[in-house]
Amino acid sequence: MKGVILAGGAGSRLYPLTQVASKQLQPVYDKPMVYYPLTVLIASGIREICLITTPQDLPRFRQLLGDGRQWGVEIEYREQPQPEGIAQALLIAASFIGDHSVTLILGDNIFFGGDALPRAFEEFRSGATIFAYHVNDPERYGVVEFDAQGCAVSLEEKPAQPRSNYAVPGVYLYDNDAVRIARTLRPSARGELEITDVNKEYLRRGTLRVQRLSRGTAWLDAGTSSSLHEASAYVQTIEKRQGMKLGCPEEAALYRGFLSLDQFEVLLGGMPRCEYRDYLSEVAAEVRRVGLKSA
Ligand code: DAU
Repeated sequence: MKGVILAGGAGSRLYPLTQVASKQLQPVYDKPMVYYPLTVLIASGIREICLITTPQDLPRFRQLLGDGRQWGVEIEYREQPQPEGIAQALLIAASFIGDHSVTLILGDNIFFGGDALPRAFEEFRSGATIFAYHVNDPERYGVVEFDAQGCAVSLEEKPAQPRSNYAVPGVYLYDNDAVRIARTLRPSARGELEITDVNKEYLRRGTLRVQRLSRGTAWLDAGTSSSLHEASAYVQTIEKRQGMKLGCPEEAALYRGFLSLDQFEVLLGGMPRCEYRDYLSEVAAEVRRVGLKSA
């Protein structure tokens, strides 16, 4: 399975923050936003990652994330000149995806907790797996409707009259058909290649799996000033309470076995003295003490 992070767009809802640095480079509490989806991919065992962003922002993402080797992964970059739709990511990354399956994740979506995501990655074989999350304001999202047996029966992008309160978060697991499906799409009324249209095609074929994320999972999108602030406050609350960080690619890479403990320690030795490094040092000390399995 390969991973694609879509981190383009104009970020106009966050103006003037986004005049110099794009939305996905903004801090969510103590890390750049893109660290969170990147960590989801690493924690799921994905080693080959393609990040798609605007031509202007690409050099800054490269400066931040490099080629990924420091985390035991490979990161490639592709440009999306105009925000012509989330599904366009599958076309831009087609040569990177090759004949593999792919997870597409949005650069401004933050997930935490619960075991639904890791389980879905483990169980994925073919077709598409997407998720459903109960929200107050489904009209802002792709919305999925279930029948009495809990089977998905319809999908709509930002419906004025949502048929359910279940929004579809921005992480999608696809087999290789997704690229072919994306090639058949036509732009929607808002001029975009809609990811919901890709999902609808899987639904039509009977190969769409929609997994509800339980109460134990948090899904936040950080696309507006207030949701960005809420996401930061949420991360701070959890990190302070638990003494564990969210969205730490180094830690995920260590737990996944992408980095040995020695490599991990060399990596943090290169960081300036700061709270982030202190945290990773504690992680290393804990792993040295009790081993990877129990830490
Ligand atoms: O957050 C989940 C929702 O994301 C889904 O429920 C919707 O079905 C899906 O269409 C999308 O809705 P949004 O209206 O929130 O998408 P938005 O245009 O804000 O884009 C989401 C992220 O993807 C954002 O960080 C910018 C980036 N993006 C978006 C488009 C359309 C790109 O990089 N390129 C694009 O062409």
